[in-house]
Amino acid sequence: MKRTVNVGLIGFGTVGAGVAKILLADNRPFQTGRHFEIELLKIADLDITTDRGITVPDGVLTTNVDDILANDDIDVVIELIGGYEPAKAFTLKAFAAGKSVVTANKALVAKHGDELFSAAKKAGVSYMFEASVGGGIPIIRSVMDGLNANTFEKVYGILNGTTNYILTGMARDGSDYADVLASAQKLGYAEADPTSDVSGGDALNKIVILARLAFGAALDLDTIYCEGIQNISITDIEYANELGYTIKLLAIAKRHEDGRVETRVHPTLVPSDSVMASVEDEFNAVEVYGDAVGREIFYGKGAGMLPTASAVVSDIVDIAAGITAGHPSNVERIIVNGDGPELIDFGELTMRYYLRFEVTDQSGVLADIARILADFGISIESMIQIGSDEVEHVHLGSAGGGHVQIIIMTHEAKEADMQKALSRFAELGSVNGAVQLMRVEEI
Ligand code: HSE
Repeated sequence: MKRTVNVGLIGFGTVGAGVAKILLADNRPFQTGRHFEIELLKIADLDITTDRGITVPDGVLTTNVDDILANDDIDVVIELIGGYEPAKAFTLKAFAAGKSVVTANKALVAKHGDELFSAAKKAGVSYMFEASVGGGIPIIRSVMDGLNANTFEKVYGILNGTTNYILTGMARDGSDYADVLASAQKLGYAEADPTSDVSGGDALNKIVILARLAFGAALDLDTIYCEGIQNISITDIEYANELGYTIKLLAIAKRHEDGRVETRVHPTLVPSDSVMASVEDEFNAVEVYGDAVGREIFYGKGAGMLPTASAVVSDIVDIAAGITAGHPSNVERIIVNGDGPELIDFGELTMRYYLRFEVTDQSGVLADIARILADFGISIESMIQIGSDEVEHVHLGSAGGGHVQIIIMTHEAKEADMQKALSRFAELGSVNGAVQLMRVEEI
């Protein structure tokens, strides 16, 4: 006889609706030929009246979360409300009641991973989070299980669908930032508060989770450099393109030879002929380097109702199989290690840089900029000046008087030195506004 594994869903938003759609469908491939059946017993949300386009059987919808958390029939809780609280309290309450939890909540896993995995272990239940990174791409399972014979060198990629959708729309169609963001929200890619998408915070949560799995690093979110795409203009996208680069929001984690870990999130110039540059719209891509397996690339839809729901359901199936086999806890395979490798200070890192200055077209400006870079040992690789609509090689000391754009690509330089140079540029009267700085990765 088949074991019935009962689940309760908390959060009937975009992803919740996708999970309900899959779990309530007539055709349920995830249980064909298996020794268990999965039943969605309850869905809790504060709003149970809005039509989600799904037929939910009578008695399933509730506004009372305890119909799930205090329900002895429910084996697995799906937490899809996002944020820290009350998501964390609900998760701990579920563990204490002997229930496993499946989540897409990257913010919670990234910030409170140690506490939550420890609590799940103590309770002898599972805490699974495939949907927290990469939407429909099974990257968590791949790094945690499929590639666990490897020592990882790096894990990085495009981990936020909303920002990739915005950057693609701006680059490909010349769309306005605000318009593409509104479209991403409408399509269900963006977080409830899209600030966490555009500020890089969502990608930061995801790279912290991957760094835990790949390097055993329990990183403190607040100590990691994170910059979003709010200041990227079509101007920069076009200039980068002229130079053979595409701008992507990359989340990067690398292990250095001394064992320390480098982690950062920021807009990045990647070569236009690279795999990362070809990742468009809401798609995500993750590149992983393992010592045994070499380079692997994972690509797929990183956001959206059904891709994310696909990942959630895969976790439910995994837990259902465990419960059926009599071993409901699988958190042993997750590294919980507050003493993991140390994070390298961002200022210590060396990178190549793209700098864009808007300057008064007068003699000596370029010399001032070059001198400041030289003062900090930053070597210029190439330089162009853009006047009106043209791109032409720079003419030192042009005696114009209007404004021109100067783009400088540097050789590798230390981040701390570049920050010092930026402060000095700000003191130059001939430089208008903030200098646009972006980092370059030859991936
Ligand atoms: N807001 C997220 C994104 C959803 O745009 O990638 C998937 O985590």
